[in-house]
Amino acid sequence: MAIGDWIEVCDTAEILPGAGVRVEIGDDPIALWNVDGSYYATQDSCTHEETSLAEGDLWGDVVECPLHGAQFDVTNGEVLSLPAVLPLKTYPVKVEDGKLYIEWNAES
Ligand code: FES
Repeated sequence: MAIGDWIEVCDTAEILPGAGVRVEIGDDPIALWNVDGSYYATQDSCTHEETSLAEGDLWGDVVECPLHGAQFDVTNGEVLSLPAVLPLKTYPVKVEDGKLYIEWNAES
C-alpha cells in the first residue's frame, strides 16, 4: 500500500447516519462517517486517549468521544471541545458503484 493508493473499504450502505464504522487498514484503525449522505474518513482513535470514536455518537458532522466527551468535526478533523487538543487525521474519500474508497495518505 503506497501513499496515493485508493483503497476499497466497504459498501456505502453499511455506513448509516448517526454512528461511525470502524475499519482497519494495515495497523491503522479508520472511522467512516455518513453526514447527510456525504462520506468522510478520519482516524478512529481519539487524540486524547485513543478511544474508538466510531463507538461515539454522531450529530450532524460532530462526533463525541464516548470516553471523556471531546468533540470533533468529522468533515475536517478539527477539535471542537476539550479534553482533546489535537485534530484528527483525515482521508479523502470517493464513491464508485456503491463502494467507498479512501485515499491512503499515512504521512498527512
Ligand atoms: S479518550 Fe476521547 S476525550 Fe478522552
